[in-house]
Amino acid sequence: MGLAAMQRRGWIIFSHNSAIGDWVEHVQPYAAQIISDPKNIAAWLRHGGTWFAGVNILPNDRLGRLEGGPALSGPAINFITGLHGKLALDYAQISVMYPGYPAYDGSESEAAHRYREIRCAAHVDGLRPDGPDRRRYIYEPHQFVLGIPLVQTSEQASPMVVWEGSHHIIREAFRSVLNKVPVADWGTTDLTDVYHAARKDCFERCPRVTVWAQPGQCYLLHRLSLHGILPWGCDAIAPEIGRMVAYFRPENDGNLDNWLNGNY
Ligand SMILES: [Fe+2]
Repeated sequence: MGLAAMQRRGWIIFSHNSAIGDWVEHVQPYAAQIISDPKNIAAWLRHGGTWFAGVNILPNDRLGRLEGGPALSGPAINFITGLHGKLALDYAQISVMYPGYPAYDGSESEAAHRYREIRCAAHVDGLRPDGPDRRRYIYEPHQFVLGIPLVQTSEQASPMVVWEGSHHIIREAFRSVLNKVPVADWGTTDLTDVYHAARKDCFERCPRVTVWAQPGQCYLLHRLSLHGILPWGCDAIAPEIGRMVAYFRPENDGNLDNWLNGNY
């Protein structure tokens, strides 16, 4: 485990740690309150009520502290600060999956829905489709994705999946375009075609692995890893409240060269 594994696989999981466990114990009731607030439900419920997206909804500080609770600490945090310096977290996403995900509610095309079911809506963060033509540009250069489960579930309860090693393929694909463009213009460079081709390449060449973790554990995803969410399994076990995970996705300082080439 550690940097070599992250470089090779594009994700790592950290074993149970009491500091993460304490953080979860403190945060979980606040998160539960947030996801049951009708205002938040109206704003964030997607896919026929089977996903609460909750982006940047937890009002934590840059160290992960919430309402006098503990800062995030432990081996995972030491690993992150070793790579990126002092923690500078964004507000966590509180993502909750419910039985039946992804239910079809007509809010996306049938093709997009099929992709969600068959390919787990696989994507690389930070390349949101833009405009009616869904062209893709870099818009949120994250440093990493840190996932912290807030409830205990079985493996079938819509876990994250990662195409292992996909960050190498994605990086090479983006470099094939961006190496010819001054970095100041990267943000306005259309990456749609190369991204679609690279994604297909990842499906063919990379094993899809399930990231299944429990409270006290956490997982770290490389910023260029292709990942998605598995549909809810018919025999999934999760608490009434749903499969609730806190995700931190802090943006870097806007240095796109670091985002693409970085030191890992
Ligand atoms: Fe994502």
